[in-house]
Amino acid sequence: MNLLIKNARVIDCSQDFIGDIYIEGGVIQEISREIIKKDAPCLDAKGLVLMPSFIDTHAHFRDPGLTWKEDIETGSKAAVAGGYTGVCLMANTNPICSSKETLDYVIEKGQEIGLIDIHQCLSITKNFDGKTLEHLDELKDYKRIRAISDDGIGVKDGRVMLEALKKAKEYGWVIMSHAESSEFSDMDMRLAEDMMTQRDVELAKYTGGRLHMSHVSTKDSMEYVIDGKLKGANVTCEVTPHHIALTRDENNYRVNPPIREKRDVEFLHKAIKDGFVDCIGTDHAPHTTEEKLKGSPGMVGLETAFPICYTTLVTGKIISLNKLSEIMSKNPANILGMNKGTISIGKEGDLVLLDLDKKFKVDSSKFYSKGHNTPFEGMEFYGEVQMTIKGGKIVYKK
Ligand code: DOR
Ligand code: ZN
Repeated sequence: MNLLIKNARVIDCSQDFIGDIYIEGGVIQEISREIIKKDAPCLDAKGLVLMPSFIDTHAHFRDPGLTWKEDIETGSKAAVAGGYTGVCLMANTNPICSSKETLDYVIEKGQEIGLIDIHQCLSITKNFDGKTLEHLDELKDYKRIRAISDDGIGVKDGRVMLEALKKAKEYGWVIMSHAESSEFSDMDMRLAEDMMTQRDVELAKYTGGRLHMSHVSTKDSMEYVIDGKLKGANVTCEVTPHHIALTRDENNYRVNPPIREKRDVEFLHKAIKDGFVDCIGTDHAPHTTEEKLKGSPGMVGLETAFPICYTTLVTGKIISLNKLSEIMSKNPANILGMNKGTISIGKEGDLVLLDLDKKFKVDSSKFYSKGHNTPFEGMEFYGEVQMTIKGGKIVYKK
C-alpha cells in the first residue's frame, strides 16, 4: 500500500518535527518536511501526532478454546483501536500452546484477519505441566518461535527453569517469565513475585539465557532486575499500564500480579525514567462479568494502554514522549524481531495518529474487545487514538 501523510507532528524515540511521511509498498520510503507526490493517496494529519504504532509484549487473546472471552478477530480489533499493530500472545489457551498445530492455528488465523502481526508464545513446559521440556527440542528449528512462556502460572521448579533457559539460549529464544512462586501465592503475593524474580535473574546470569521479566510490579523485583542488568545478565523487563497508574489504596482491582503500594509505583516510575524498563506490556486479559465476579484475575488493556501511559508518564512529567515511544514501540519490536517501532526509511509503515490534547473518558461499552473488565471505567485521560495504519493501510479509524 502507498500512503502520503502530510503535516503531522512526527515523533518516535529520537525525533520530533512537523512534516510528511511517504509509505510505498507498505514500507516507509521518505521522511521529510515536505513531500510532494501527485498520484499517492494523501492524508492530512494537521494538528495530530504521528508515532510508530505500539507493540505489546504481553496479551491474551484466548483463542483457541476460550473464545467467549476474546478471539483473534476481536483481539486484533481491540489492538488496532489502541494503536497497536503487533502483539505477543501468551500460551494459556485451551489447548495450551505447546504444539506446532496450535501455534500455526493462531498465527495463520491472525494473518487471515490481517489487522496486526501476531507472535504466539510456545509454552515453556508441555501443557504447563511444570516439568516436560521435550517439545522445545522437537520445535527447535521452527522459525515462528521466538519467545516461550508459562504465563499465568510460572515455572515452579528452579531446575526446570534452568534447563529451559539453557535450551532457549541454544535455540535463540527469549523466555518470558511470569514470576509467581505458587507456594507463597495464597500467603503473600509480594513474596511470591520477589522470590521468583530473584531466582530467574540469578538463573539468567548463570546460564547466559535470554530472560524477559513480564509485568514487574514490586520495588524489590525491579531492583533484582536492575541488579541483574548491571551485572550483565541477559535480561529485559516490562511493566503494565495498571501497575504504573494505580495504587491498591485507590483501586485494588483483582489482577496477577496485584496492584501494589504507592512506593512500588513510584519506584517503577523511577526505573522507567532511569532507563531500566524496556517495554510496556498490557497484560490484556479479557474475562466476562460473571468470571470477574467469581474472582478471575486480570483486565483488558489494549484499548487504554497509550492514554494511561501518556497521561501518567508524559503529562505527569516523568519521561518524554520520545522515551514513551521507545518503550511502547522500538524496544518491544526489537524483542519480538519485528521490523517496525521507529519512523525510519525501510521500516514497515505501521503508524498511529493521536490527539494528545483532547481529554476523554474511558467507556468500556465502546471497547472492540469482548472483555469489558477494566478498573479505568469513567476515568479521564489524554492521548486518544484517532487512526492506526499498518503497512500504509488504514486499519482503524475513530
Ligand atoms: O491477572 C492475570 N490474568 N494475570 C495472569 O498472569 C494471567 C491473566 C489471565 O490469563 O487471565
Ligand atoms: Zn502473567
